[in-house]
Amino acid sequence: MSFTSDGNESIPTDFDDVVQQVSTGTLAHQRIDELLLEAHERYADVDEGLLAHYIPILGQVEPDTFAISMSHVGGTVHGAGDCHHQFSIQSISKMFVYALVLQEHGHEAVHEKIGVNNTGMPFNSVMAVELNNGHPMNPMVNAGAIATTEMIAGKSAAKKWENVREGLSAFAGRPLTLDDEVYESESEANERNKALGRLLKSYGRLDGDPNNAVDTYTKQCSLNVTAHDLAVMGATLADGGINPVTGQQVVSADVCRDTLAAVATNGLYERSGDWLFEIGIPAKSGVSGGIVAVAPGKGAIGAFSPRLDMAGNSVRGQLAIGHLSRALGLNLFASAPDSGR
Ligand code: DON
Repeated sequence: MSFTSDGNESIPTDFDDVVQQVSTGTLAHQRIDELLLEAHERYADVDEGLLAHYIPILGQVEPDTFAISMSHVGGTVHGAGDCHHQFSIQSISKMFVYALVLQEHGHEAVHEKIGVNNTGMPFNSVMAVELNNGHPMNPMVNAGAIATTEMIAGKSAAKKWENVREGLSAFAGRPLTLDDEVYESESEANERNKALGRLLKSYGRLDGDPNNAVDTYTKQCSLNVTAHDLAVMGATLADGGINPVTGQQVVSADVCRDTLAAVATNGLYERSGDWLFEIGIPAKSGVSGGIVAVAPGKGAIGAFSPRLDMAGNSVRGQLAIGHLSRALGLNLFASAPDSGR
């Protein structure tokens, strides 16, 4: 028997007839304002990390901007710092596009085509694709995200882009707009993503034109958001797919569950295991410095600070979210002995 895997295999499942129950617990929302300020003050002076110079315009941003925002599922959004500062969403877009594609195509088809297992390699790895027979492996690395974007509904590239923009805007609860400068800067510097698109195509893993898929992916990464938007977008996934501010059902509760599982295993790339071990909630980062972390049934935190660690994750953002996860009891794996015993 061979134990090699090409990313297409699943674990055995035989529980479709068992009713899905949800995790419980309440959020101490009366403490959010105080804790956001505390975390902001505590980490505002951390200056470790580097800007994302490989996208030229991201290498020129003000490095000290720092924002933390939190939305709970009841719909109130709290913030500390520059919560309305706009930045490009970058890789954080991957989780929301993945949710839209799950909504369109369903759990099985997307699982088979994109996969959910961690590559253990950097987000833009070509080797990960080669080692897995062209399988993109998961939707959070660039190869998987390009393949996911290609699955968005729409016959033309223009229609797909419209659906991406409208879908992400529904998560944010306001119309998101393209940052033209970021889009142009990244378009001029994304030979590697174009190579990933062609590589996927050569393995028969993309149906359409790889350049169109990469272009739509580059546009989705160039949508402007704020930390406040990230909190609302994340809280929509924490709230069974209902945007807590607008009340719109954006995706189904099953899609939220599947999306957050993929985010938990891959959201911080090769650091995802360390992140779950230390912080314990699904989170997704982007190279402009944003991070969103989602506590199912409770709410979400959006953070922004542009200096990144070596895996491309905001240094201050990780610290601030770690602080809040601990102080608000968001870690999914933390429990205390039953007091009724
Ligand atoms: O494709 C890229 O390289 C960027 N548009 C997005 C990468 C990214 O955000 C990785 N995140 N930490």
